[in-house]
Amino acid sequence: MAPSAIAIDQPGTTTTLTNNLIDKIDCPDINHGLESDVTGFASKALIQKVLKEQIARINVDTCEPGEEDAFYVADLGEVYRQHLRWKMNLARVKPFYAVKCNPDKEVLRLLAKLGTGFDCASKAEIDLVLSLGVPPSRIIYAQPCKTKSYLRHAQRVGVTLMTFDNTDELYKIKECYPKAELVLRILTDDSASACRLSTKYGASLEYAEELLHRVKHLNLNLVGVSFHIGSGASDPNSFGKAVKDARGVFDQAATLGFDLKLLDVGGGFVDETFETFAGNLNEALEEHFPTNVRIIGEPGRYYASNAFTLAANVIARREVAVDHEGGKGYMLYLNDGVYGNFSNIIFDHQHPVPQVLARPIANELPVEYSIWGPTCDGIDVITDRYFLPGVIEIGDWLFFENMGAYTKCSATKFNGFSDDHEVIYISSEPGASALLGY
Ligand SMILES: Cc1ncc(COP(=O)(O)O)c(C=O)c1O
Repeated sequence: MAPSAIAIDQPGTTTTLTNNLIDKIDCPDINHGLESDVTGFASKALIQKVLKEQIARINVDTCEPGEEDAFYVADLGEVYRQHLRWKMNLARVKPFYAVKCNPDKEVLRLLAKLGTGFDCASKAEIDLVLSLGVPPSRIIYAQPCKTKSYLRHAQRVGVTLMTFDNTDELYKIKECYPKAELVLRILTDDSASACRLSTKYGASLEYAEELLHRVKHLNLNLVGVSFHIGSGASDPNSFGKAVKDARGVFDQAATLGFDLKLLDVGGGFVDETFETFAGNLNEALEEHFPTNVRIIGEPGRYYASNAFTLAANVIARREVAVDHEGGKGYMLYLNDGVYGNFSNIIFDHQHPVPQVLARPIANELPVEYSIWGPTCDGIDVITDRYFLPGVIEIGDWLFFENMGAYTKCSATKFNGFSDDHEVIYISSEPGASALLGY
């Protein structure tokens, strides 16, 4: 799908540059005096317009199979704004976008042009990033337990920087890629995060000491320390403790003759709490790493989540009794579910919020719904109780905001449904439009 191209001319108006589908739209009256508010409102209005135009082209009574499939609208302007916000709040930390979160080619292309680095966890992710012309020096192979053949591949293509957290990995690296630049991943307390990672990866501080000795014994090239406070972190103090622990490992390493130059503070940043977490991280960095150490991070969700809105079609409906006034509710069946783009419900512990698209909803009384995916599995439920205005019919569309992180990358083809949904790209930021050639 060719990207749409849109720039904000002035508050209240959004104009297409190169795409004929969208001319001018009216945005809500905006008088906050804040640039970000203006673009935020305009972005939402623009997404609504594109969603509505797309569904107007689809007639579920006559279309070919699949033409009514769920689809995304992705506003690359949102990714651009998140990058500026990162630079304003975390100037010292160079972001290496975590490709696993959403390997969408346009997102990667924009970030490549913005000069970020990339956190890759597999051969395919490395190759994808390299295919965009990103030099291997802007990639960290941030998978502490790597496949041997992938290690050899990393060596062939010149990706030198990589994490490890155990002795066996060191022997593997010694055999396959002895010149690799190694980053020791340490354990964090990630108990306050949505997706815990420290149950699987990271060396305790005691074990880290043992690993330092082993690196020295094997004559490998240790360059730094990394950690991850858990994805979807909710305790801003996690950074303080993790940075302090990393300092301890730097100091231990120094006693063994290592001169470490890199600290990787991982991901875990969330849109809503970003400034608070960034503030805590900056404070900890100032205290423990005042100068002379290069700092990188591996944000994923922070960049991708808000940029993607998903629309799905109501393919079936079942009336059910409910125990509140009126006594009537509905089970709605969408053409996308937890085996598809709503995989974030299972894997990322998210609760996507349904909204009704393209129906007048003023003054309609709330009706109780449960919302299900299309597969035959009972686990395929998007929400088991939600009130939406009015009675929703078969053929109507629902949309869900903030669907850019850990969604389509973990979709499956279970039951024969698609794992490859159309993305309509737009840009609500002139800067992003210019970089992408929209
Ligand atoms: C090693 C590593 N880095 C970065 C990330 C991205 O985390 P987030 O999306 O929470 O920023 C993950 C997520 O699982 C990860 O495993």
